[in-house]
Amino acid sequence: MARKTFIAGNWKMNTNLEEATKLAQDIVAAMGTVTDVDIAICPPYTNLSEVARIVKGSTVKLGAQDVYWEASGAYTGKVSCGMLKSVGVTYVIIGHSEQRQYFGETDETVNKKVKAALAAGLLPIICVGETLDERKSGKMDDVIARQTKGAFTGLSAEDADKCTIAYEPVWAIGTGETATPQQANEAHVFIRSIIKEMLGEAVADAMRIQYGGSMKPGNAKELLAQSDVDGGLIGGAALKADSFFGIVQPA
Ligand code: PGA
Repeated sequence: MARKTFIAGNWKMNTNLEEATKLAQDIVAAMGTVTDVDIAICPPYTNLSEVARIVKGSTVKLGAQDVYWEASGAYTGKVSCGMLKSVGVTYVIIGHSEQRQYFGETDETVNKKVKAALAAGLLPIICVGETLDERKSGKMDDVIARQTKGAFTGLSAEDADKCTIAYEPVWAIGTGETATPQQANEAHVFIRSIIKEMLGEAVADAMRIQYGGSMKPGNAKELLAQSDVDGGLIGGAALKADSFFGIVQPA
């Protein structure tokens, strides 16, 4: 089944308002009419409203980097799905390894966030991936299976259809070290087999699985050529319009 390539830029904790405005404008100018690849950019919360204004009317969609599952109330520092919707957000990254490593994200909180996002009409980009230790000690499959199952627990096929998975080996994130196309594809095939086991063949076949971890113009083509690599979640290389475009173009 043909899955439409999906490239998303994760700006992480980068860009003040002025920088975000410029970057979003440059991205829209370079690729705002591309229709054969789905494109999203995920700036920090503080820049969402302004970037929403800039991408409006283009084919570039807006994403957030995290969300909280409660709708409102006394949760200092948190942002709800409804708030994201209200400023024009389409996608939300959930379970990024940096959230898991530094901010106590667990498979349970990922699942709560995924369910809340879907209920609010947001499209989750769910991150999974092993650390170097986990890979070296042969626990990689267990970890990826546990994270994937955790994220999709209790979801209907219809809900799962709205999700994207990002396979991001932690050892490749921001390190300049990339999984080889073969390593990436093996992991993607494995993740797809978990989805098939949980939700059936049709959902598994349609599920887009992005690769993330030092993807850049120089390696994107080969990674994206793999049978089960359906896009990329891009960190560092998404912070300049020309390198981001260098990934979108071969896609
Ligand atoms: P990177 O980050 O492209 O800078 O490795 C990817 C990510 O963490 O989403």
